[in-house]
Amino acid sequence: MDVGEIVAELERYLAPEAEELSLPPAAFTSPGLWELEREQVFGRSWILVAHVDELAETGAYVSLSVAGEPVVVVRGEDGELRGMSPVCRHRLMPVVEEGSGRTDVFTCPYHLWRYGLDGRLVGATHMKRNPAFDPAACRLPRFAVEEWHGFVFVNLDVSAEPLGPHLRRIGDDLANYRLPELTQVAGWTEEWRCNWKVAVENAHENYHVMGFHPETLQPTTPGGAETRVRADSPWADSMRVRYSAPLEPVVLDLTEEERAHLYGFFVFPSGSLAASGDTVIWLSLIPSALDRTTVRGGVLMPAAMVEGQDREAVRKEAEAYAAVINGEDRRGLEEVQRGAGSRFAERGHLSPKEPGVVLFYRSLARALVRQDTDWPGEL
Ligand code: FES
Ligand SMILES: [Fe+2]
Repeated sequence: MDVGEIVAELERYLAPEAEELSLPPAAFTSPGLWELEREQVFGRSWILVAHVDELAETGAYVSLSVAGEPVVVVRGEDGELRGMSPVCRHRLMPVVEEGSGRTDVFTCPYHLWRYGLDGRLVGATHMKRNPAFDPAACRLPRFAVEEWHGFVFVNLDVSAEPLGPHLRRIGDDLANYRLPELTQVAGWTEEWRCNWKVAVENAHENYHVMGFHPETLQPTTPGGAETRVRADSPWADSMRVRYSAPLEPVVLDLTEEERAHLYGFFVFPSGSLAASGDTVIWLSLIPSALDRTTVRGGVLMPAAMVEGQDREAVRKEAEAYAAVINGEDRRGLEEVQRGAGSRFAERGHLSPKEPGVVLFYRSLARALVRQDTDWPGEL
């Protein structure tokens, strides 16, 4: 299947009475579609990359690749968050490895050119005798950054429309979860060997819980639990799953409705939040290659809940729990990727228990055919 045929198939999800079928398997393995996604999806969408607690100090940074494009987000000396390309202006070495940390200056490991936290070149040895080189004009290119209730998003398109207006409804829904007062108690970065869409479609449904998470999540949010979804904009949709028994939050004052449900919110293409009692978990599924996905995430809790507690113990416990759930998803999804490469791979019929998957496919189709201006409004 060539990329034109795949996109034509995806476009059919935008029809009002579209058949509820899984993606064409080639969508998970096609280099042509990957190239198109790099441009049409990841080249112009807001990608959730961090929680602001990771970037609190001056010089704190997160460095990663967004669909093959190296990106660093850093807190400047002026307190501003900046998104920059870490690719050295000399001979292409990224000036910082993937990961997170803190620095005063970015020193390229290759020939030691040095860049300030605002991307300006501050030093380059043995360059004075090249009259064509103007150090004052040399700086790391910029990407757009937006912070929304503590979540940090990057857009490779510096002139992108702001994200905030698209998330207004999610923000209203989450008012009782007091996002700005949450603190990140644990975080992780993992690498999964699957196409990003295998991971994102999985995040959009609770149906798989009975298969992948029989002992961890199935008792509280069984795969067959009542699930409702809502599409808010070309960039945002949400899902609500009924708990087997309501939660008893310790700090937050939640409504009966909120105590009875797990709320999932999705920011196309990669970002998601799950609100569950006193805890919000964020997860971003960011492709690094056609068959590799970087999984960044964290556990957030109200600051009042961890006050006076041993933060290290809280972190270890939250990280250990996340590692178990993530491990269950990773193992399963890497197998799905193996299946996607089969000569017998075909599209399958979706269950009414996975309506969120269709919303994701629609967002994907819109992004690929650039129809986000034709958003029909509320569904
Ligand atoms: S590539 Fe960075 S200093 Fe040469
Ligand atoms: Fe899962």
